Amino acid sequence: MISFSMPVRVFFGENAVAENSAVFERFSGKKAFIVTGARSAKESGALRDVSAALSKHAIEYEVWSDVVPNPGVELVYRGAKEARKCGAAFVIGIGGGSAMDAAKVIALLAVNPIPKAAIFAGSPEPKALPVIQIPTTSGTGSEVTPNSVLSNDTDMTKTSVASPAMFADTAFVDPRYTVTMDRKTTADTAVDAMTHAVEGMMSKRAGRLTDALAAEAIGCFVSAEPALLGEEEISMKERASLLYASTVAGMVIAQTGTVGVHAMGYQLTYHRSVPHGRANGFILTDYLAAVEKHDPVIVSTILEELGLEDLCELRTLMDRLLGPRPAVSDFEIEGFAKRAAAAPGMRNGAVVLTESEIRSVYRRSLA
Ligand SMILES: [Fe+2]
Repeated sequence: MISFSMPVRVFFGENAVAENSAVFERFSGKKAFIVTGARSAKESGALRDVSAALSKHAIEYEVWSDVVPNPGVELVYRGAKEARKCGAAFVIGIGGGSAMDAAKVIALLAVNPIPKAAIFAGSPEPKALPVIQIPTTSGTGSEVTPNSVLSNDTDMTKTSVASPAMFADTAFVDPRYTVTMDRKTTADTAVDAMTHAVEGMMSKRAGRLTDALAAEAIGCFVSAEPALLGEEEISMKERASLLYASTVAGMVIAQTGTVGVHAMGYQLTYHRSVPHGRANGFILTDYLAAVEKHDPVIVSTILEELGLEDLCELRTLMDRLLGPRPAVSDFEIEGFAKRAAAAPGMRNGAVVLTESEIRSVYRRSLA
């Protein structure tokens, strides 16, 4: 049985907003609530392009630029209150995963009275304000997923809110908006996209179609590796390749979800502020080594897609792309392993690691 849902209309390419601004026509005379972080929406030029498209169709808008990295529950409730107050008919998310993830929960909360305590249970209600997503990083693929990952202070981790209502109506994916990303962030987010594809292949929900998309995304990541590792400026062609990989890998996890690499990486991000993609990259090699003991075929298939001989080569690649790994005490690792073992993503793998295996993956992955 193949079940595949991708209701997002994706426009990919340079000048995607300006050339397809007719998308906004149906909101003519209404109001948009634009959700962004402090900088990238402006610096990338995305906000300027959106503003021009909205003006063309007589759409008023309010810009809410309060999103911080790794947003939490309080922030999205505050955003939803603002969206209701300004009478928004739709929401536009511009930024990296944090801004786009915040935008989709704000769109959900703006029309659903979900109590804060129940936010991580998601919403069975098939309604949310329409969302338009515009990425400025090439990693999360959030523009095509129905999930939003928020900091969860109750469980001391990051947890996904999921609802089919949170799929965007439209995604404008323009590689020009990723040019202002520095090399480090470009590498971190590229590794995030690659792990989405790899984890999609290891999911118990993986299938022929998602595997084909995962291979496509991994191929683009591989083709951009020399640029990520080099000294020269990353060209628009390579930026486009990385952004395409991110969107395609997003289409994979929209079907399969992520597995243990993300569940374990969230602990590093929540407790040690390690950027999301970097955290995944630190965990990836030793997670695959643990999975290999149960299912050597899936790991050799993944290595083949990555064009690598063995896991040693993968570790070297991650070290070159990401730099030094954080030092973490045995005491911290105990807590990380306990919480990661309880995360839903951990049970989404075709191979489910035990808490003891998770503990040794952390020990081997971290300094
Ligand atoms: Fe991710």
